[in-house]
Amino acid sequence: IGKIGILTSGGDSPGMNAAIRAVVRTASYYCVNCIGISLGYKGLINNEMRKVVPTDVNNLIHRGGTILKTARSEEFKTKFGRKKANINYKKNGLEGLIVIGGDGSFTGAMIFGQEYNIPIIGIPGTIDNDIYGTDFTVGYDTALNTAIEAIDKIRDTATSHNRLFFIEVMGKDSGFIALNSGIATGALDILIPEKKYNLDKLFYSIEKVKQKGKYSSIIIVSEGKKLGGVYDLAKTTKKKFPDYDIRVSILGHIQRGGYPTCSDRVLASRLGVASVEALISGKKNVMTGIKANKVIFTPFLKAIKKKRKIDIDLIKISDIIAC
Ligand code: F6P
Repeated sequence: IGKIGILTSGGDSPGMNAAIRAVVRTASYYCVNCIGISLGYKGLINNEMRKVVPTDVNNLIHRGGTILKTARSEEFKTKFGRKKANINYKKNGLEGLIVIGGDGSFTGAMIFGQEYNIPIIGIPGTIDNDIYGTDFTVGYDTALNTAIEAIDKIRDTATSHNRLFFIEVMGKDSGFIALNSGIATGALDILIPEKKYNLDKLFYSIEKVKQKGKYSSIIIVSEGKKLGGVYDLAKTTKKKFPDYDIRVSILGHIQRGGYPTCSDRVLASRLGVASVEALISGKKNVMTGIKANKVIFTPFLKAIKKKRKIDIDLIKISDIIAC
């Protein structure tokens, strides 16, 4: 294999740059040329590519975001869009692709790979940790740490004012960030899409700590349609506890930025090296991942279709120690 392409796609995540660095340096180590494709599949469709060499990724391992830039491409979902992408793929002499992204990006990779017989390896890069076939996705650990730092700060002001805070964290349809940041910050309750939430239980907990003279608490709410809005939740709670001072805080996109943690840098580096070696050894249409601290490969179809299960027992742990 003489030339490979690399792109980042979908929502960015801290550690994507570390993965790009690992891919570029590993390709060079094995004397393979590496082409960086800008803006995910959009760059493949619009032929926005440039050669990347090891010195281009100097001073990069610690930086958030992605130097290749990223996008969600509607055009790549069409046959016509993928046809244009394939023309550019061939024109640039590429012999394989590495796609860093989430399940939407892998769906595109799987279809494109099958349609044009292109070997593609995926690296799971998303803060949501919602991909089957890996214990951790690149960016999740950093997002968690960003979330807990912000929640700790909110707790300071919540305590000073005797306020009840509803804090919404990201995660798309998964509660990984909510569940783990909630336990790590001592939240009174944690609402995640995987578990039907029970307002009575929430109100019972608020009442229980109130009896103990505690008026300030943190409730973590994962974003996600199933849960309804965090503002509605706060309103309903205010009706039940009119004497409470209630505030809502949505952490939002700060969870997607910042310096990647050590775990994310090491994970990104391991998966970056493994993905290039996989392409060289003839693997195709699989995602690299980490299971029990070992690098493994999962077919795209499985990674996309199978739901990554959350550890519901953690809810019980949170319930036992929250109040
Ligand atoms: O998938 C990553 C993620 O940050 C989700 O947690 C969130 O739902 C979504 O992307 C936000 O997307 P956007 O940046 O397009 O608003």
